Amino acid sequence: MKEALEDLRRKADGEIDSAKTGGEFLDIKTRYLGRKGLLTDLLRGLKDAAPEDKPLLGKLSNDIKKSLLEKIERALEDIESGDRDKALREARIDVTLPGRGLRYGKVHPVTRVEGEICDIFATLGFSVVEGPEVELTYYNFEALNIPEDHPARDIHDTFYVTDNIVLRTHTSPVQIRTMEQQPPPVRILSPGKVYRPDSDISHTPMFHQVEGLLVDKGITFGDLKGVLTFFLRQMFGSGTQLRFRPSFFPFTEPSAEVDIQCVMCKGSGCRVCGQSGWIEILGSGMVDPEVFKTVHYDTEEISGFAFGLGVERIAMLKYGISDIRLFFENDRRFLEQF
Ligand code: DAH
Repeated sequence: MKEALEDLRRKADGEIDSAKTGGEFLDIKTRYLGRKGLLTDLLRGLKDAAPEDKPLLGKLSNDIKKSLLEKIERALEDIESGDRDKALREARIDVTLPGRGLRYGKVHPVTRVEGEICDIFATLGFSVVEGPEVELTYYNFEALNIPEDHPARDIHDTFYVTDNIVLRTHTSPVQIRTMEQQPPPVRILSPGKVYRPDSDISHTPMFHQVEGLLVDKGITFGDLKGVLTFFLRQMFGSGTQLRFRPSFFPFTEPSAEVDIQCVMCKGSGCRVCGQSGWIEILGSGMVDPEVFKTVHYDTEEISGFAFGLGVERIAMLKYGISDIRLFFENDRRFLEQF
């Protein structure tokens, strides 16, 4: 049995010497030392050996096992670190390559213009309040003196959630919510999202409006003109020409639409202003006494004006953008220009 063991050691050593790959070493390991390996096989014969030989044979087979294992492990380690060296050599970083650069985020043009509007009105003492986008028809329509049979109530102009809940079609309901909550004076601005089922070059189903409301003793149409003129000249430049045109809104009386001289052609007439030289920019008016009655304000005591404007529309004019849908496509080439 001793010879058989020595024989096995010689054979295994020879194989280890000529093995090259990790796979070959692992194969030798299982073939000799595995549970069904050659050495294990030999050791099964140990029980038939003479009792006085057993300790020596046992020690010998242990030595063989240990030395074979050591050799194989060392060979495997060498292979592995060789692989690692090679991987490191190949993965060398080329420090002369130009860097990738940092990309900065930008504020969305609509958010930016909304902020500018709020900043301008803040200088006049207007504070910002917000209201819900999912709104009761009461606030969106009735309280604003828009009766059931008004064209704005038509299903085609409004996203209905239920019979008496809508996605608000304008920011005007915030007027009512604010006046319900506080006595006069009121001087608020309310920016936010509004919804209408329209989609074309100048309409998107969701867009942004800013509502303004000022209520106090002795407020006149002159105050309305003064405030809106100040605002529009801050926004579009001090030389901006304005036009107040009589109009109608159910919640204001009298009402006026405000036009600015076309920012593209300076009034000579172009495609943007439909050759008229003027561009409609906001709706406004003196708050209708019916609206004040709804919120229990004393119409003998106070008066006020309100206005509403579209943020995208102002951004389009300011930046010369011809299609409103560009704001919502999230194309970085578009957004990065602002
Ligand atoms: N709510 C109107 C709209 O969405 C805009 C508007 C017009 C608001 C006149 C007002 C106003 O407060 O006085 O078209």
